[in-house]
Amino acid sequence: MTRKLIPVLALASLAGIANAADIAAGKAKAAACAGCHGADGIAANPAYPNLAGQHAQYLVAAMQAYKTGARNHAVMKAMVGSLSDEDMENIAAYYESLKK
Ligand code: HEC
Repeated sequence: MTRKLIPVLALASLAGIANAADIAAGKAKAAACAGCHGADGIAANPAYPNLAGQHAQYLVAAMQAYKTGARNHAVMKAMVGSLSDEDMENIAAYYESLKK
């Protein structure tokens, strides 16, 4: 019974991304990302993608994919490896809030 409930709860928490995210907490976590992606989410070096203004849902999906290896990139895998789902949602909400 409990086992069957877990995936349902995981989906429910994904659906809650927009409401639950904490932009201030995301900004604090994003300090580690600024060296490549820029302090305001605009990267100075074109080798690094801009994160400012991208949809939060997309950013979470990208971070999850790096973490699982579905999107293969050693540097990004290392960067998101220790982030929880909640951290990712907060970071994504922070970057979404920034101007492109
Ligand atoms: C050492 C440089 C570096 C650091 C630090 C870094 N990234 Fe990245 N990031 C990259 C590179 C390079 C890519 C492009 C990788 C690829 O080709 O998929 C990328 C891609 C991404 C993407 C996908 C963007 C897109 O448009 O698809 C996201 C989201 C992202 N990074 C989030 C983060 C977060 C969050 C942090 C901090 C926890 C972080 N990155 C720290 C270098 C970095």
